[in-house]
Amino acid sequence: MSLLELDDVKVHFPVKKGLFFDRTVGHVYAVDGVSLSIEAGQTYGLVGESGCGKTTLGRAVLRLNDITDGGVVFDGTDLAKLPSEEMRAFRRRLQMVFQDPLGSLNPRQNIESILSEGMAAHGIGKDQTERREKIKDILAKVGLPSNALSRYPHEFSGGQRQRIGIARALVLEPDVIICDEPVSALDVSVQAQVINLLEELQESLGLTYLVIAHDLAVVRHISDVIGVMYLGGLVEEAPSDALYAKPRHPYTKALMSAVPVPDPEVEDRRERILLHGDLPSPANPPAGCRFHTRCPWVQETKCATERPPLLDTGDGHKVACHFTAEIEAGTVKQTLATGIEAVTGTETVAAEAVEVSEGETETEVPAADAPAKEPATVPAQADADADAKETEAKAADVKDAEKEAADATEETADATEKAEGSPKA
Ligand SMILES: Nc1ncnc2c1ncn2[C@@H]1O[C@H](COP(=O)(O)OP(=O)(O)O)[C@@H](O)[C@H]1O
Ligand SMILES: [Mg+2]
Repeated sequence: MSLLELDDVKVHFPVKKGLFFDRTVGHVYAVDGVSLSIEAGQTYGLVGESGCGKTTLGRAVLRLNDITDGGVVFDGTDLAKLPSEEMRAFRRRLQMVFQDPLGSLNPRQNIESILSEGMAAHGIGKDQTERREKIKDILAKVGLPSNALSRYPHEFSGGQRQRIGIARALVLEPDVIICDEPVSALDVSVQAQVINLLEELQESLGLTYLVIAHDLAVVRHISDVIGVMYLGGLVEEAPSDALYAKPRHPYTKALMSAVPVPDPEVEDRRERILLHGDLPSPANPPAGCRFHTRCPWVQETKCATERPPLLDTGDGHKVACHFTAEIEAGTVKQTLATGIEAVTGTETVAAEAVEVSEGETETEVPAADAPAKEPATVPAQADADADAKETEAKAADVKDAEKEAADATEETADATEKAEGSPKA
């Protein structure tokens, strides 16, 4: 049995309105049916773009958000149904490290006070002297000097503050640490150091991690398993290597295609999948597959009506897509992100958009789909226009560059000529 198991977890925030009486007028479906499990001593990486519900899910595990439905089984106990007094005992064993280290550390407390607060509350250490010794020990583990004890958060750099945040979790001797975007606020040069520290600590202390990030590169090396989240649900989950070697869900493919490759030759040939439109609102998620309004491979009817379950496609690689096999076999064609049948492939759109006036493009939108898809046509048009302009601009750039290069060659030739005093070959 896994150390932490989430079973169809839902967190819906009520949207209230009214002056005198709060009326619930709708819900934000921030997390809408997530199941996953994390083995003891392993790291689960949770990725997805901002607003897809990652933080809400992390907070729900600690019961910092009410769980609308579903189970959070930690070490055999379902926390979702636990009375709050009993939850207290589990709070110590599940800790969180936050994105913004400065915002999560009280500026008026020195480090010793920040770190001993939780220890005292959970009865760790019989007195302050004992707690101080323990804190010194942990500070050394996270790579901070012991004189940090009497200093204040603002005296530290961003990376050091995140080390303090990690130390604050560690002094409570947790089993699980939920790291919510642990390096997003840090300089790139410091990010790797903090990630390495987390890995070292995991090894020496046998910790279990849920690492949340919006950036695939951050979770890649630290994670054993990666889950990709979109609009409140998981769309793909696989062992880290398998996910990178062969992303199967169209959304994961799009995310992955946005990550630059260090090899310039591969980088030039790399296929980039551009998603149209923004993440839809979790207060009004699309019916059927949540991703169908932006999916380059969206197929008629089924994608818009049936929500695909997350199914194991072999070797623990789970995908929530009706057409995984067909997309890979090439038997379903790429349609437009907006689902307009008349046009296939982005090149056609870009070419047409230059000639067709806006009015004409709009009439192509099937009337039935108008409410959900109308806004998406505008960015598509705008994108196409922008693309066309960009291509023009690039062509101009290339010409300029060519001219410059030619000039330069001429100059060099001239110079050589003068120096050598002989005519050009
Ligand atoms: N307390 C809350 N009340 C209402 N809506 C919320 C609350 N917390 C988060 N949300 C909404 O839930 C969605 C998911 O948010 P969040 O979990 O913070 O996403 P992420 O961490 O992936 O960026 C967002 O649309 C956000 O506005
Ligand atoms: Mg977040």
